[in-house]
Amino acid sequence: MRVIETVAELQALADRERAAGAKIALVPTMGALHAGHLSLVDEARKRADRVWVSIFVNPTQFEDAADVRRYPRTREQDLQCCRDAGVEVVFAPGRDEMIRPASQTWIEVGEAAQPLCGRSRPGHFRAVATIVAQLLLAAKPHLAVFGEKDYQQLRVIRSMVRDLGFDVEIVAAPIVREADGLALSSRNVRLHPEARRQAVALVRALDAAESAVAAGERDSARLLRLANAEIEKAPLARIDYVELRAADSLGPVAEKLVDSALLALAVYFVSPERASPERDSPDRGAREAVRLIDNRVLDPRRAGAAR
Ligand code: PAJ
Repeated sequence: MRVIETVAELQALADRERAAGAKIALVPTMGALHAGHLSLVDEARKRADRVWVSIFVNPTQFEDAADVRRYPRTREQDLQCCRDAGVEVVFAPGRDEMIRPASQTWIEVGEAAQPLCGRSRPGHFRAVATIVAQLLLAAKPHLAVFGEKDYQQLRVIRSMVRDLGFDVEIVAAPIVREADGLALSSRNVRLHPEARRQAVALVRALDAAESAVAAGERDSARLLRLANAEIEKAPLARIDYVELRAADSLGPVAEKLVDSALLALAVYFVSPERASPERDSPDRGAREAVRLIDNRVLDPRRAGAAR
């Protein structure tokens, strides 16, 4: 396995591999690799001759410097994971290689980047789109694999690739979960053990809404109430958003679901010692809290008779 740290070297290798007829798949990550990331590597392996993983903690997509510093960095472990998974190249650039001093250019993202995490994290998706564009230009892959865990990110990247005419296929991979249903995330290790136990409330909320749709429920407000109620059973949970959105455009849904809808959740988990009695106040505890996201597409056309 090769570890490459410069864009120029990666581009030169991409040119050679392409000239030799090899199909390249890129899996962009920020490291702290877990089984969710490795499922993307497996998906890539099925479709390409060369699997390349990028590891870059992109500072521009975080809200503040403390967040960037807190992000787990496990370089040696990550490299070993990639070696074990048969990855051919890890692209691990330094900060200045990707964030050029005095850089003036951003990818402006549209409607799909506005709601959900776009509202909670202003500027996040333009930073993600810009870095992903840079990674695609550096690795020149035939395909790139992204997780449905970050559904909105996937949606924003698909639009960017289509709108700007990137010559790359975007492949989506399903969410990988722990045995109790919690979606794998590099943030899970930061949860207090009690918060970790309660975090299963997210998947319970998704399951409850999905079962209700299967049983014929179509009323958006009632589905949202169901999901909220499941999350509120967790005393350490502080809801950022619980929303239903059109699965393709991420636009608003009608009162009665007709087409596929995305149920998207973002919930902070605070530690027991910092939990304030006012559940919905953005208390001091919330600043130290761990924000988890999860989602599921609800398809009323595949489910039971409407109610
Ligand atoms: P990161 O959070 O490291 O995630 C890298 C990829 O792994 C993303 O496509 C994400 O959706 C996927 N992933 C994470 N957890 C997953 C899970 N439980 N199941 C399936 N896939 C999962 O997303 C980013 O990095 C960055 O924004 C990036 C695209 C690299 C740009 O900086």
